Amino acid sequence: MRVGIVGAGQLGSYLCHAARRLGLQTTVLASTPQQPACQVADQVVLGAIADGEPTCGIANPVVAMGELAQRVDVITFERENVSVNALDMLHGLELTGLVKVAPSVEVLSLLQNKFEQKSWLQAQGFPVGKFVECRLPDDTAALQAQAQACFAELGRPFVLKTKTGGYDGLGVRKVDSAEQMADFAGHDCIAEALIPLQKELAVLVVRHPAGECITYPVFEMDFDSRGNVLRRVVCPAGISEVQAQRARLLSKELISRLGGVGVFAVEMFTTGDDLLINEISPRVHNVGHLTLEAFHSSQFEQHMAAAAGLPLRVIHQLKPAVMENLLCEESLANAELERQVHTLNDDVHVHWYGKRGHRPLRKMGHLTALGDNPRQAGARAVRGVQRLRDDHTRFSMSA
Ligand SMILES: Nc1ncnc2c1ncn2[C@@H]1O[C@H](COP(=O)(O)OP(=O)(O)OP(=O)(O)O)[C@@H](O)[C@H]1O
Ligand SMILES: [Mg+2]
Repeated sequence: MRVGIVGAGQLGSYLCHAARRLGLQTTVLASTPQQPACQVADQVVLGAIADGEPTCGIANPVVAMGELAQRVDVITFERENVSVNALDMLHGLELTGLVKVAPSVEVLSLLQNKFEQKSWLQAQGFPVGKFVECRLPDDTAALQAQAQACFAELGRPFVLKTKTGGYDGLGVRKVDSAEQMADFAGHDCIAEALIPLQKELAVLVVRHPAGECITYPVFEMDFDSRGNVLRRVVCPAGISEVQAQRARLLSKELISRLGGVGVFAVEMFTTGDDLLINEISPRVHNVGHLTLEAFHSSQFEQHMAAAAGLPLRVIHQLKPAVMENLLCEESLANAELERQVHTLNDDVHVHWYGKRGHRPLRKMGHLTALGDNPRQAGARAVRGVQRLRDDHTRFSMSA
């Protein structure tokens, strides 16, 4: 079977590796031939993916998506920021049965917009915090008025997010004054009450087109507050068995209700005993990178199996694990790390992504440490990061 993957970044390259193991052919839609997945895929279609992306010398999103659809049996996504027009066109092909889409265009379109997504969750009765739609005006006086209205509705500070296009904390900001909204002026946003959260959890759900739905154990996430960027993941999470079961059941019900196909990451906040849903990603996620070494089958393998309609894999955790993202701390003009995976020892696995463009807190790679329990895995991760820090003094992670 031939699978098309929209997007050719880091996640796409892991998906291509998994596809190969499953005997599937891959074609990636990439905006440049240098993207990581282009080196691993069987075929590449070059073209823009998001609306507003430059198309100099490459096909526009609608043409590129059409080309991809012609070459494959099923299309899936490694990112949710996909052109609305290209999705409309793909929806037409999906309805006529010319190509399968997993997850469906309807599901991806709903989830790619944070406001639409939260409105759906609320309407379906799933637990979410307070939020309002927020179109940010360009002029200062109107921005002041908008900020005051949000403070009155949501409290101060609140959290502002662009409706679309955000990832890795880009497009998310805590707002205490109108000035802090200025960068987002002209954008369609969602404003949310700041949740006094205790922990951040994620559940990876895998759903087969025939309806079977399974979940990985709960992951606990730690964020770097400087940029709301994911720094550390622990699995299993340090929560009670009762809360873990509730989180898994809630996530499973949600993805079943959506009718999603493939892997979904359901991100949640805990406040005391309560769970609030933060967001759902309609794709494999950075939080699940540790499934590569800590589980019998990775999120990437599960996603490709579900998209292709192959049987889902058994979810079996081999060892407790901790993953640390290797974040770029300062401008690294001369760093030219090759893409590579290596082990520091049997229990610590390092993945460098070979990224050339550097900006503070960009994810340059990750490290997964295994242990007999989460504490041991955590200690190994800290030692591993320290060793890398010594080796690559230009990278710095707060361990
Ligand atoms: N309403 C909120 N209250 C408190 N903290 C929040 C809220 N919304 C977001 N955050 C913080 O900001 C982080 C990033 O927000 P969110 O998950 O919406 O953005 P993202 O950039 O799409 O994430 P990802 O890293 O999954 O791509 C959250 O994980 C959390 O730490
Ligand atoms: Mg998130």
